[in-house]
Amino acid sequence: MNIITVINAKGGCGKSTIAMNLASGLARYEHRVLLMDLDPQAQVTQWLAAGDGLTPEGTLVSALTRQQSLSEVIQPTGFERLSFVASADGLEDLGREISQTEGYPSMLTQLLAEEHIADRFDFIVIDSPNQISPIMENAIFPADAFIVPFESTKAVRSYASIYKLLVKLRSGNDFKMLHVLSNLTRLPGLRKRVLTLLRDDGIASARSEIRSCGWMAQVDENGGSIFHYRPLSKGAQDMAALVEEVRELFTNGRSAQTEAAETNDPGSQTEPLAEAVAA
Ligand SMILES: Nc1ncnc2c1ncn2[C@@H]1O[C@H](COP(=O)(O)OP(=O)(O)OP(=O)(O)O)[C@@H](O)[C@H]1O
Ligand SMILES: [Mg+2]
Repeated sequence: MNIITVINAKGGCGKSTIAMNLASGLARYEHRVLLMDLDPQAQVTQWLAAGDGLTPEGTLVSALTRQQSLSEVIQPTGFERLSFVASADGLEDLGREISQTEGYPSMLTQLLAEEHIADRFDFIVIDSPNQISPIMENAIFPADAFIVPFESTKAVRSYASIYKLLVKLRSGNDFKMLHVLSNLTRLPGLRKRVLTLLRDDGIASARSEIRSCGWMAQVDENGGSIFHYRPLSKGAQDMAALVEEVRELFTNGRSAQTEAAETNDPGSQTEPLAEAVAA
């Protein structure tokens, strides 16, 4: 089983859009997928119209506080092979409370292990909050891969703080990374500035880019994924390419770091980001 966390410390960069559509895209490939909403804003929870996801019962809050088992709060969705764990308002408060507990960043990891969730799913996709917090740390701790969306130069700058946290929590650097341009094609000038900044910071972009697509902006209101809502749209094409790239990432069994180091690319992310972390 592979765990993919969609993350950046920047609001509105496309995390939830990517998490939801990636999860349903992987499920379309016959994978058994668990989508976990770790964002107190509960965007994905509302998107899936998953009942009263705003009260703790039946949500991640209840599992993390051990009032219910994680298995008990896993819900089916309208999509075949896609299951779901809802977020709730209380997640933010819970984050503050657990920060006093030793080893809190691994709370979710422990639940996943105790309940052998890995036996039941091929992929877990985690939507993370947009601010560094104990809940975000729980989203980082178990991940095998991170998808980092960039929709602005601010998102590129926010990435330095996220990367610092990744390195702190995951000292072995044993994770894969995909840096994905998101919703930038509507603003070519900004897109160019983002690309320049990424290059200057030595951050290699993923092959896939999620272009701006009006249907993508509306898909949440329709409760489905872009594949069901507008299967021929640019958004569906781009998400399908991202799903493919994610699958390759795990088939190849190579990390982004290894590839960057092996290609000796002057734009390799390793050095400049290491500098950013040290700064
Ligand atoms: N490719 C796209 N084309 C058009 N609109 C998009 C695209 N991707 C995302 N959006 C829209 O941009 C907004 C922000 O996206 P999204 O909610 O996924 O970001 P987020 O990173 O999850 O935000 P938050 O930090 O608040 O959780 C939403 O209104 C979404 O519909
Ligand atoms: Mg979101």
